[in-house]
Amino acid sequence: VTRMSDLDLRGKRVLIREDLNVPIENGRITSTQRLDASLPTIKAARDAGAKVMVISHLGRPKEGQFDAESSLAPVAKWLGEQLGTPVRLIADYLDGVDVAAGEVVVLENCRMNVGEGKDDEALAKKYAALCDVFVMDAFGTAHRAQASTHGVIKFAPVAAAGPLLCGELDALGKALEQPAHPLLAIVAGSKVSTKLMLLENLIGKVDQLIVGGGIANTFIAAAGHSVGNSLYEPDLLAAAKKVLADAKRRGAEVPMPVDVVVAPEFSAHAPASIKAVDEVKDGEMILDIGPQTAKLYADLIAKAGTVVWNGPVGVFEFDAFGKGTEVLAHAVADSKAFSIAGGGDTLAAVDKYGIADKVSYISTGGGAFLEFLEGKELPAVAALKARAGK
Ligand code: 3PG
Repeated sequence: VTRMSDLDLRGKRVLIREDLNVPIENGRITSTQRLDASLPTIKAARDAGAKVMVISHLGRPKEGQFDAESSLAPVAKWLGEQLGTPVRLIADYLDGVDVAAGEVVVLENCRMNVGEGKDDEALAKKYAALCDVFVMDAFGTAHRAQASTHGVIKFAPVAAAGPLLCGELDALGKALEQPAHPLLAIVAGSKVSTKLMLLENLIGKVDQLIVGGGIANTFIAAAGHSVGNSLYEPDLLAAAKKVLADAKRRGAEVPMPVDVVVAPEFSAHAPASIKAVDEVKDGEMILDIGPQTAKLYADLIAKAGTVVWNGPVGVFEFDAFGKGTEVLAHAVADSKAFSIAGGGDTLAAVDKYGIADKVSYISTGGGAFLEFLEGKELPAVAALKARAGK
């Protein structure tokens, strides 16, 4: 695909699609991770002398009306602070925007535009008419085929992939397509059902798969153990068994927990106890992996060449059930493996245990990261490739 870094942007009207969909509480941005990741792209375009228009969604407002809650105003303000000069937020932009060379403006939430969600062609053409160069940089929204992420790529005079998008694809490619072996994936979270495609795709690639959380409970049940009152999915026992059989056929390991942390209820102050995995009683809930299991997994991580991490292995929001995730986080931080982490809960764990700068690559994608791990082609990336004739 064409890369933004290959283009001369001087004096050009450059429309950059970023994913500036950040959590905002009472007008305050509570995580700037996606903004921090987008900033170098915006600065590069500005420094190249472009007339920079940044477009993004925020949340899921209704199309066709203004919704103050979903305004990008706090984001424009933040960008202004970072760039050292005020950044205008433009509400009415579909018929053209006046921007000076070297200036950066933010266009109001594109999901307020009628037709954005259904990738309306007329809207995509309006976006295309705003610019000389369209830069797709929103990895976090690259799995959505919408007018500002997909349709516009067909109609813009020039369409290019931005540095953040390229960086994400390079890192994910390095982890999954040309990994240093052993390739170890940690796939955890509450439900097998939401991650089944991911498990099925990864089991064809990894050397080791560590499952955690509710997903592990379903695997523990599939191995014939009682999981007591734990969250698990009886309907997916067969699917879990198939993943295990596929792993065996390929010679991949799916190490099962040997011990777990249980409690009588799901709460921060529930009394925690450590049990062997085959001793979980009725009425007990598994809320974390046990210390022996954490050690076994940490040893595997230490020997890995590549680690892909999605999902905490316990209820780490409650300190009593966060030890397993904490041990694995430090193992990832200390390992020499190329490591990549993604997904909202995973990033919260990375932050909580202070290892952000020790993970080789932290993805800005939630759903997009998962779809990539599922082996799906992201529609925005497909559109860029089609545009480049590949
Ligand atoms: C995300 O937060 O995962 C992206 O910004 C995409 O948002 P969406 O799920 O509302 O399309």
